[in-house]
Amino acid sequence: MTTTHSAGHPGTARTRFVIAIDGPSGTGKSTVAKELARRLGAGYLDTGALYRLVALAVLRAGVAPEDPAAVAPVLAGLELRPPLDPDAQQHLLSGDDVTADIRGVPVTQAVTPISAQPQVRTWLHDLQRGTALGGRMVVEGRDIGTVIVPEADLKIFLTADEAERARRRHGETSGAAGDVAEVGADLRRRDLVDSTRATAPLRPADDAEHVDSSSLTVEEVVARILAAAGKRGIR
Ligand code: DC
Repeated sequence: MTTTHSAGHPGTARTRFVIAIDGPSGTGKSTVAKELARRLGAGYLDTGALYRLVALAVLRAGVAPEDPAAVAPVLAGLELRPPLDPDAQQHLLSGDDVTADIRGVPVTQAVTPISAQPQVRTWLHDLQRGTALGGRMVVEGRDIGTVIVPEADLKIFLTADEAERARRRHGETSGAAGDVAEVGADLRRRDLVDSTRATAPLRPADDAEHVDSSSLTVEEVVARILAAAGKRGIR
């Protein structure tokens, strides 16, 4: 008989699980997390997009992203419903489709001071955790395995060397974010802020499996993670 939460027994599969995919930008987290969700028939939660939506709401309100007192009322009026289908990632803000806007340069700049604010992280905590615990879920971010779902069934910390990350990000943004050197400098700046902030800094969970994607294809990374998941009864 198939039972839930029976990790490791051949032939049994979990009906609910959380796979946390954490790591810095440009490591291929989104591509890998979406593909995992497809292969497992799971939902996909992009938590970076939630920080970006908050940043866009703050910019639209015309207040400074660095000013917590000005950001607080924006949070109070905000309602977010993240999309979970890995193939239909449409993000709405007050009914507007802002899927492209949240990837633009102004939001990418504003999201760093926004995501460093404890009030923003607290506000997003329950939404992320509640969504993550909704069933079969792959959740991508920076602090999923350490803070949001510390009991996640599988935690992956995805890394890649800096030159490779800059090259990939440059390709993704089609040059709009500057040349490869500029993209590399921006990644370094964001990594430093993300990993040294006081609240929920970017760091691997003690029990995370580290995967270095520098010289692996997406398929190879996905295959490794699926193998680790299978050992835990996730298939
Ligand atoms: O993954 P991304 O580039 O879309 O993330 C946008 C920003 O949000 C990035 O600067 C780091 C931050 N972030 C975070 O602090 N915690 C998360 N769980 C996800 C993203």
